[in-house]
Amino acid sequence: MELGPPLERHTPDSMTGLSMGADSTGFAGSLELEMEHSPMNTQQLIDTAKALIAGDKGLLAMDESNPTCNKRFANLGIPQTVEARRAYRELIVTTPGLGECISGAILYDETIRQQKTDGTPFLKVLIDAGIIPGIKVDSGAKNLAGHFGEKVTEGLDGLRDRLAEYSQLGARFAKWRAVIVIDDDIPSRGCIEANAQALARYAALCQEAGLAPIVEPEVLMDGEHTLERCFEVTEEVLRTVFNQLYTQRVMLEGMILKPNMVLPGLTCPLQEPVDEVADATAKCLLRAVPAAVPGIAFLSGGQSAQLASARLNAMNARFRSRVPWALAFSFSRALQQPALEIWKGEEAHVSAAQQALYHRAKCNQAARRGDYNAAMESGRNSRLKSGE
Ligand code: 13P
Repeated sequence: MELGPPLERHTPDSMTGLSMGADSTGFAGSLELEMEHSPMNTQQLIDTAKALIAGDKGLLAMDESNPTCNKRFANLGIPQTVEARRAYRELIVTTPGLGECISGAILYDETIRQQKTDGTPFLKVLIDAGIIPGIKVDSGAKNLAGHFGEKVTEGLDGLRDRLAEYSQLGARFAKWRAVIVIDDDIPSRGCIEANAQALARYAALCQEAGLAPIVEPEVLMDGEHTLERCFEVTEEVLRTVFNQLYTQRVMLEGMILKPNMVLPGLTCPLQEPVDEVADATAKCLLRAVPAAVPGIAFLSGGQSAQLASARLNAMNARFRSRVPWALAFSFSRALQQPALEIWKGEEAHVSAAQQALYHRAKCNQAARRGDYNAAMESGRNSRLKSGE
């Protein structure tokens, strides 16, 4: 897909350390007039959003709900217990060097309250490693009444109180995921609008509580649909989400967008090369995402770990200097899956699993700079074979 004439050259703030926020633009006063946030909240939200996408780091999503985590454990024969989930999350947060590449970690309600075996809270371990703790606050995607095959994400009831508690515990940002399915006659407008409005109401409540919202409208990659169809649906979803964010008075400078990449469906016979995926994704985002948003942190959505890195890399290599936002990552499976498969619930495998997680974090850090290449993978595979 052609992207059209190059935009004016622009170095993203995250790469220069300069800020797009109120402090460098001189817009702070007028922002506060327009938006219903206290000046303190406004600056705090902007600072958190900027810190999450700063430099070449990205986010680690480790916020799988208990049912999702148990499903992944069951596939590998790992016991589905509170202790196994705690031990796995301890492995993740204590990975040596993780803070070099990871700016923020998204936790789940169970995990944010847990500790290492020695009693140190996970929150303290993360903060000591320079990683900002965040929290998933939606309560999952449920069937949408009157819309066969479609879902709406729930969790708004009581959210204000839960956000206050998470903020007190130490979270500085939050996440809410909406799920959009592509099939012959879906998604419907009803589904897109219901999810977009819930995302916007969640984001407004987060900003009121001083937590930077990660807004995640995920168009699923399951299905036979083409890349063009994913483009069309993703564009419509993002336009609707940003309309709702505007309607609900969400301050775009104090949030992060977490979208899907524009991809062909998993079972589509035509799987476009990495550069075409990068072009389509950049074109779609340029059409639908306002420049005031500081950063876009992609979900991985079930792509292989290597493909997710390669596609993120291509986007940065081709577009980093001419898009207004940082192009970062907020992966769960594409960061964690290789480590989980090595760990398999065995204490003896913890160190090897941590090395695999660190390796994926490094690969995605390189992809943020447009410096990732296949040799980074083969080097590691040969080291693993020789037992290093
Ligand atoms: P994946 O990267 O596995 O898609 O997970 C991202 C996420 O946080 C889902 O909400």
